[in-house]
Amino acid sequence: MNSSPRPALPADLDAVCAVAQSSAFSARWSRAQYGEEIACGRGLFAVVGAEPIRGYLVLRRVSPEAQLVDLAVRPQDQGRGLGRALLDCAAAAARSWGCSRVTLEVSAANAAALRLYLRTGFQVVGRRPKFYNDGADAILMDLLLP
Ligand SMILES: CC(C)(COP(=O)(O)OP(=O)(O)OC[C@H]1O[C@@H](n2cnc3c(N)ncnc32)[C@H](O)[C@@H]1OP(=O)(O)O)[C@@H](O)C(=O)NCCC(=O)NCCS
Repeated sequence: MNSSPRPALPADLDAVCAVAQSSAFSARWSRAQYGEEIACGRGLFAVVGAEPIRGYLVLRRVSPEAQLVDLAVRPQDQGRGLGRALLDCAAAAARSWGCSRVTLEVSAANAAALRLYLRTGFQVVGRRPKFYNDGADAILMDLLLP
C-alpha cells in the first residue's frame, strides 16, 4: 500500500465521501462541501492510499494558525500508520505556511483519535463541556510548531 499522502484531486471526491461515510467521528460533510474544500485551495486536502483511497485529512490555513477540521481512515485500514502519516503531512504543510501551531477539537469519546493526537505531540489546551449532540465534551488540542 502507498502510505505517502498527496494532495486530493477532484477525481478523488467519491472515494473521500466513501471514507467519510464509513468513519464514525469524521465531519461527514455533504459531497458538495468536500468538493468545495478540494477546489478552494485555502489549505491542505490530503489523501493517502491510492486505488482505493484509504484516508484523508483537511487542514485550513487561518494564519497564524492551521486548523485540522477533518481526518478519517477507513475502518479496515486503521492501525497501520496512515493517520500518523496524514498528521505528519499536515504539520509539515503548516510549518511551510509559517504557522505557529495546529489546532483541533476532538470528542472526549473518541479514544483512538485522542491517542493518535497525543502520540504525535498535540497537547490538551481546553475543554468544552457537553459540546457534541451525544453529550460528549470537546477536547481542544494544539500542536506547537518549532
Ligand atoms: C483516528 C484515526 C484517524 C486514526 O487513524 P489510524 O490510521 O488508525 O492511526 P495510526 O495507525 O496512524 O495510529 C497512530 C496512533 O494512534 C493511536 N491509535 C490508533 N487507533 C487506535 C485505537 N483504535 N485505539 C487506541 N489507539 C489508537 C495509537 O496510539 C497509534 O500509535 P501507536 O500504534 O504507535 O501506539 C482513525 O481511527 C479514524 O479514522 N477514526 C474515525 C474518524 C476520526 O475519529 N477522526 C478524527 C476526528 S477528530
